[in-house]
Amino acid sequence: MKRTLVTSALPYANGPVHIGHLAGAYLPADIYVRFLRIMGEDVKFICGSDEHGVPITLRARKEGVSPQEVVDKYHAQIKKSFEDFGISFDIYHRTSEKIHHETASDFFKTLYKKGVFTEESSEQYYDEEAKMFLADRYITGTCPNCGNAGAYGDQCEKCGKSLSPKDLINPHSQLSGKTPVLKKTKHWYLPLDRMQKEWLEDWILSHKQDWKNNVFGQCKSWLDQGLQPRAVTRDLNWGVPVPLEDADGKVLYVWFDAPIGYISATKALFSNTSDPADWKKYWKDENTSLIHFIGKDNIVFHCIIFPAMLKAHGEFILPQNVPANEFLNLEGDKISTSRNWAVWLHEYMQDFPGKQDVLRYALCSTAPENKDNDFTWKEFQTRNNSELVAILGNFINRTLVLTGKYFENKVPDAVELNSSDTECFKAIKLAIENISRNIRLFKFRDALFELTDLARKGNKYLADNEPWKLYALNPLRTATILNISLQFSAWLSYLMEPFMPGSAVKLRKMLNLNDRKWTELTNESILKPGHSLGTAELLFEKIEDDIIAHQLEKLESSKNQNEVDKSLPDFKTSTSFDDFQKMDIRVGTILEAERVPKTDKLLKLLVDTGLDQRTIVSGIAEFYKPEEIIGKQVSILVNLEPRKIKGIESRGMILMAEDSNGKLAFINPHGQIQNGSVIR
Ligand code: MF3
Ligand code: ZN
Repeated sequence: MKRTLVTSALPYANGPVHIGHLAGAYLPADIYVRFLRIMGEDVKFICGSDEHGVPITLRARKEGVSPQEVVDKYHAQIKKSFEDFGISFDIYHRTSEKIHHETASDFFKTLYKKGVFTEESSEQYYDEEAKMFLADRYITGTCPNCGNAGAYGDQCEKCGKSLSPKDLINPHSQLSGKTPVLKKTKHWYLPLDRMQKEWLEDWILSHKQDWKNNVFGQCKSWLDQGLQPRAVTRDLNWGVPVPLEDADGKVLYVWFDAPIGYISATKALFSNTSDPADWKKYWKDENTSLIHFIGKDNIVFHCIIFPAMLKAHGEFILPQNVPANEFLNLEGDKISTSRNWAVWLHEYMQDFPGKQDVLRYALCSTAPENKDNDFTWKEFQTRNNSELVAILGNFINRTLVLTGKYFENKVPDAVELNSSDTECFKAIKLAIENISRNIRLFKFRDALFELTDLARKGNKYLADNEPWKLYALNPLRTATILNISLQFSAWLSYLMEPFMPGSAVKLRKMLNLNDRKWTELTNESILKPGHSLGTAELLFEKIEDDIIAHQLEKLESSKNQNEVDKSLPDFKTSTSFDDFQKMDIRVGTILEAERVPKTDKLLKLLVDTGLDQRTIVSGIAEFYKPEEIIGKQVSILVNLEPRKIKGIESRGMILMAEDSNGKLAFINPHGQIQNGSVIR
């Protein structure tokens, strides 16, 4: 039998989870897995907390607690949220567990012994005050690609470019605020450049047809740029220690250990069973399909780096598909943890108890499957009121109430089906096919649309036939209509299962039906005449305007609060007057401005500094049009080392104010003043 192993990205245990997480990597995976289970297939669903890496240690510093306390707290909270929303993992593990440390350690050793890694000593940024190397997010600076001043050592979140610390312009330590020094250190590298040529490129290209466009496209652009060797170790004290003699103070890079977490979790799942070695079937047997559900920021790790690790190890299968989603925005704005611009799952649970399926439904309907998409509370309300309540809920409710009223709550007999009756069964059959096909193709929105459309057909059947008017004249025909409507409801209770599992169970209870696999439902009439029904309840309830208004206010207020405290960067540590004096800041006038071709953000400026005229490249194109800034006086750091940006030598930097949303504005002198005037 076909076997499938489904994983969802291990969330960092450094904060609670929000709707963006749910819509991106967990809900689609859950729908997929529930569907496979219903089809009677062998599937395991794996996830857990990612408890290593810089995001965790930075959070610990911020909260003033140990990293272990951070992961304990958030692991429990995240696990609870997933349970609340019916995300049906077979195991929710954690990477701080012993079995994971052992598995990751062994994996590294195997690659080491096979001579896969290259070893390299190189100069890395080091914070002399904190006495630490500054890996990944411990260092920030200006992005060479877009000019964002808050880019991290591993990535610029504004333009999405992945970076290494040495790419940053004007780097500084997140710990002390100081400019770091360079210091020699040794690390182990995965030679992706070699692997690209040997097999990786061909393997990815072979998935052009079956991987989603957004996924394939991202991989292709990585390949086109040429893969580079990637360090898989870090100088840090939090993580899986590098299992080698000469590696004190070094741990595995979090992106090396975390995906191995999928393997350790699978081991853990089987560890207390009669056959603990069964985990191997899911990782080492070519008949298993390995499917990774992730968000788009994880594509390179799951499509390139992890497969490279698995292949280098030699014993593992490679992922069959990586159906990554794009990002979900909230009310037109990027979801942001630091700005508290998010709908947190644990808060939703408090505000909408029992309504998990409504959110599942709304998120699946607007899932960012092919491009970024927007969640709005208004649309959430409409989906609930006009679809779940007015179509699905209304159909079920009328069917059950009328059966109670006319037929003592027992399924009446159907006699002489006419064409509108048989149409119903055809519609059901077609819906099953369409839902199944779309789910297998990872098109969950389309699948859900088919479900809603089926409910719409049921509702229309009832509205067209008007059994409530017919009963007095023709009880026999009324019986048939309600029989068909009840069969329809029964089918819906099974077809809803992957999308809205809680409501599916509730509906089956009302219909007095057992859980069944779709494959066991061979008879088109599921309910036998005379079958006693349960108690009718409302499946969904209307959500009133004031509830939605309250959510919007809540968002708005968190925005205001956060503008004052959290979203602005902390003050840097103090600097000496001498250090300050080293900067030569002058007033200058912009003489010419033009866009740098093939970039969205860069302008090439010619400025008059009073002493010379020079070219400066500035990342302001999103905020200023070239024609509107000519003649403006601005502040310029004139003695910044010249730097090549997009092939243009930039001599100096235009100083800008950046607000908490990343909006930039010039610092102008108040009133006209001579160019070259010193700012101090
Ligand atoms: N913790 C990572 C994130 O939230 C995802 C890790 S996925 C894994 O972006 F494959 F590494 F496990
Ligand atoms: Zn950038």
